Formats: sequence, structure tokens, C-alpha cells
Amino acid sequence: MKGKILKIGVLASGSGSNLQSIIDNIEAGKLQAEIACVISNNAASFALERARKHDIPALHIDHRIFTGREAYDAALVETLAEHGVELVVLAGFMRIITPVLLHAYPGAIMNIHPALLPAFPGLHAQRQALDYGVKVAGCTVHFVDAGTDTGPIIVQATVPVLEGDTEETLSARIVAEEHRIYPEAIGLFAEGRLKVNGRKVSISP
Ligand code: GAR
Repeated sequence: MKGKILKIGVLASGSGSNLQSIIDNIEAGKLQAEIACVISNNAASFALERARKHDIPALHIDHRIFTGREAYDAALVETLAEHGVELVVLAGFMRIITPVLLHAYPGAIMNIHPALLPAFPGLHAQRQALDYGVKVAGCTVHFVDAGTDTGPIIVQATVPVLEGDTEETLSARIVAEEHRIYPEAIGLFAEGRLKVNGRKVSISP
């Protein structure tokens, strides 16, 4: 992909702070990519607002008007294709995706999860980590496969769990690392440096 700017589509449901870090890295010239569109299932997602502020097409596609997950994902695929998206970036997208989206973007869907996978998949990962009593927590960027938070791991970062941590304090420490490693992982993809072999992702120099 050298010489060509990778077009990414960001899917988000919440505050969009990871989207913001991607925007900031692109604008600072640290990440060679273009955000072709931002899509949210949630009209109130602040991610849409962030996109609009940066003149990025921001689309609300409401899952409630579709008959099922597959029909919703077909609408996502149509919109992503219309915008020429090559890599789908899930950034706090709180929906389970189906084979309809997976097959449209084989090997080209990434997710960020606020835990050191394979520990603590699913919802409330930070709370799960605190409840378990781990001393080290973190976040993971991985390719998406048919499971929930199970795909090949691209990059991880660790943070300490400190005495007296709450879900909020631990989440804040983790999300700061998310903002660092997600743009990094997208950059590696954009540079064509990620190779997936089974479960393993190797990074070429
Ligand atoms: C992030 O912490 C992300 O890791 C998490 O949602 C948050 C979104 O924050 N994703 C998941 O839990 C997915 N299972 P943001 O909207 O500010 O980027």
C-alpha cells in the first residue's frame, strides 16, 4: 500500500475518544490514512460530533430499524463501500458483528478492547480485571474474527493496577494507552507490515 493513502471507516457507539486520537495522529502527520467516514448506531454518540468538527462524513445508522443483525451489517457494508473504505476500525462499537461484515472485509477489520486478551473479553473488561485482582491490566488491538474479542492480536499495552483503583481510575489509565496503540496498529496496517498466519500476527520491520 505504499504511496497510497489507506481509507478507513470508523464505527463507534460512545464518546469517540479513540476516534479523536486517530484524527489527531492523522492531522499531526504521524498516521498516513484518511478517515472516509464515521458511522454510529447511536445518534447521541459524541464520535459523530467529533467527526463533523473535522469535516469527516458522519452517519447515524440506527440498528433498531433493521430486522436483524445481518440486515444491519448489510447496510453498514453498503455505506462503507460507498465511501471506499479499505479498513474497518471498531472504536467502542458496542455491537456484535456478523459474517455479513466479516466476509465483506476479510482480514481488514480491527477492534480495540480494554483488557489484555484473551483475559476479560466482553463487557466491563476493566471491572472484570479489578474483580479478579490482577496486578497488571491493559488493552489490545486485534483483527476481528467470528468470535467475541478472539481474533489475532496485533498490539498490546500494559498498565499497572494500583491500590485503591476504581473502575474509573483504571479505565482512564487504560484508555490513555488505547489512544497510543490504536493509531500505531492502523499505521502498521497502512504500511502493509502486518502478516497474519493462523492466530499469529507478525510485524515486518
Ligand atoms: C474503549 O475503552 C474501548 O476499548 C472500549 O470502549 C471504549 C470506547 O471509548 N471497547 C470495548 O469495550 C469493546 N468491547 P471511546 O468511545 O472513547 O473511544
